[in-house]
Amino acid sequence: MRGLSCLLVFSLGIFIQVSYCHSSVTTCLPEKNAALFILGDSLFDNGNNNYINTTISYQANYYPYGETFFKYPSGRFSDGRMIPDVVAELAKLPILPPYLHPGRVEHVYGVNFASGGAGALRETAQGFVIDLKTQAIYLKDLKNVFSQRLGKAIAEDIVSKSVYLFSIGGNDYGSLLNPDSNLVLPPGDHQGFVDIVIGNLTDVVREIYNLGGRKFGFANVGPIGCLPAVRALVKNGSTCLEEFSAIARLHNAALSKRLYELEKQLKGFKYSVTDFYAIFSEMLNNPTKYGFKDPSVACCGGGLYRGDQSCGGNKGIKEYELCDNVNEHLFFDSNHVTDRASQYFADFIWNGNHTVTSPYNLKQLFQF
Ligand SMILES: *[C@@H]1O[C@H](CO)[C@@H](O)[C@H](O)[C@H]1NC(C)=O
Ligand SMILES: *[C@@H]1O[C@H](CO)[C@@H](O)[C@H](O)[C@H]1NC(C)=O
Ligand SMILES: *[C@@H]1O[C@H](CO)[C@@H](O)[C@H](O)[C@H]1NC(C)=O
Ligand SMILES: *[C@@H]1O[C@H](CO)[C@@H](O)[C@H](O)[C@H]1NC(C)=O
Repeated sequence: MRGLSCLLVFSLGIFIQVSYCHSSVTTCLPEKNAALFILGDSLFDNGNNNYINTTISYQANYYPYGETFFKYPSGRFSDGRMIPDVVAELAKLPILPPYLHPGRVEHVYGVNFASGGAGALRETAQGFVIDLKTQAIYLKDLKNVFSQRLGKAIAEDIVSKSVYLFSIGGNDYGSLLNPDSNLVLPPGDHQGFVDIVIGNLTDVVREIYNLGGRKFGFANVGPIGCLPAVRALVKNGSTCLEEFSAIARLHNAALSKRLYELEKQLKGFKYSVTDFYAIFSEMLNNPTKYGFKDPSVACCGGGLYRGDQSCGGNKGIKEYELCDNVNEHLFFDSNHVTDRASQYFADFIWNGNHTVTSPYNLKQLFQF
């Protein structure tokens, strides 16, 4: 039945045209077998942490999360969609389910493995999150399931044609923040720590390459010193914690360099890096251009910049504020962006020119 098109109706009532159905099983596959797999942290987690034994600090499955788009708290750390939801839409794929969702889903369009709080290092929030290495193990398990259900050839084809999109690193550096002294510690060897983070991220990229993956996308680490949660820690309260953002810049330089090397070393390896740091900084510096009011203040939370992590009122602090118009905000809560901001970011990932997304954008990766 190759070539036959089939129409799927998803629970959200979104209709998606896909290109063909597999004959032996009643499975529809994405165009060119190119699916989208999401790995990383809370910027991408769409509900995996709902299904693990963790604490509420790593979860967003309660009011007022999710109100804008899904109308229920799905576990996304946002008022509505997050970046991967919008990227999937741009790729004409359905919204991807969280991998740990207990329903029986084929995952042939891709799936989301990301986990809020996760880092590239196993030690980052260990025991409370699904670390990046475990996310890659889940991918390997899924490839085996594809082999059994669709045959080895199709499984191989899906793995090699699909795009693996990452957001990772920010949480690894969180351990360097010492709220007591308002300083980033230790003052010395940040480069050494960055190398360890990049080393572990490289290991995972190589594992996926060895599994057959060829197309890798990255949103690099943003200006983490400007998160409302971090600004709120700065005693004089008026600026971003520049030393913290500086570590993100070290990370981003090392990431780009490493990916460039991997492309030379690994046959068929292709990648895309979106300069999330630069786009984010641009939005912080020119908020009105994007329709945002004060970009330092979150929509949901309390205290300075609504940065006290109280959004939802169940992490120890009961009282919190919720803005009237979420669309005026870059940040939804103390650490995460709004649906509206995610639409901008996703567009840069998908369509961005060489200044922001290089050497390819995701649209080009999908076309290979
Ligand atoms: C969940 O984690 C807590 C604390 O780490 C532990 O005490 C508890 O036994 C765990 N529960 C399950 C069902 O694994
Ligand atoms: C990965 O991280 C661990 C610490 O979790 C570190 O000991 C190891 O050297 C890192 N691996 C690489 C390749 O950098
Ligand atoms: C406020 O804190 C920032 C970051 O720590 C620092 O660069 C700046 O000089 C401080 N400003 C004042 C007025 O203390
Ligand atoms: C690339 O995109 C950025 C961000 O939208 C824009 O500012 C810039 O002018 C573009 N550059 C080119 C060469 O089109």
